[in-house]
Amino acid sequence: MKDALLGVHGLSKNFYSGAEQIPVLSDISLALARGESLALMGRSGSGKSTLLNLLCGLEQPDAGMISILGNTFDSRQAMDGRSRERRWSDLRRQQIGVVFQEANLMPAMSLLDNVRLRAKLAGQDESGCTSWLDRLGIGSLAGRYPDQVSGGQRQRAALAMVFAMKPALILADEPTGSLDRLTADEVAKELFRLQSDSGCALILATHDGELAARCGQRLDLAHRVSV
Ligand SMILES: Nc1ncnc2c1ncn2[C@@H]1O[C@H](COP(=O)(O)OP(=O)(O)OP(=O)(O)O)[C@@H](O)[C@H]1O
Ligand SMILES: [Mg+2]
Repeated sequence: MKDALLGVHGLSKNFYSGAEQIPVLSDISLALARGESLALMGRSGSGKSTLLNLLCGLEQPDAGMISILGNTFDSRQAMDGRSRERRWSDLRRQQIGVVFQEANLMPAMSLLDNVRLRAKLAGQDESGCTSWLDRLGIGSLAGRYPDQVSGGQRQRAALAMVFAMKPALILADEPTGSLDRLTADEVAKELFRLQSDSGCALILATHDGELAARCGQRLDLAHRVSV
């Protein structure tokens, strides 16, 4: 594929509860090039967050291969755990921006300092950080601490952090899940604007059909787990 950024082949993941095996993802394959976007859909518990965690190295698959930004992680090939962790953490610091379902910001730092820190760790210029908060409609909250803003405002700050690091790939887990329709539309507009301006790839997990419809590709995860 031209300018491939991510290739996934035969990815499977089980969790365990005591001796009971809980199959979550089975034989997932996908491919994404720079500038492309993919919506992950599926019912609660279908494995969207688990797949995003596999794609940024925070979970390890039971089977399958991930080829990402010039790195290959193949479950059939033994790799020293420390070197694997180092490669994934380098990718997360510089090239893969992750917006988690529950925004995780440094509690002792203001929203702006959180954004600046992420830019700095990624080797990016910190001067534009205020404008990312402005573009997401929370510029006036720049000096507040994470526990002084709402969940949706924290989520937007987490997006600003990812924008500021100028990643090659954004993984966003329900980035508009805690926002009202109007704010969700504005945030989605910024997300897709950033994507087309920077040419990065985007994978987002969402229950929002309108947001998913804006992505070029869509992967529906089957709901295999009984709850
Ligand atoms: N660490 C874990 N140990 C055991 N089971 C887990 C673990 N993490 C997730 N699961 C289970 O794996 C399944 C998939 O979870 P996941 O969080 O990926 O779903 P999801 O599609 O993101 O759901 P939602 O839409 O509610 O966010 C669920 O049944 C969940 O209970
Ligand atoms: Mg989830």
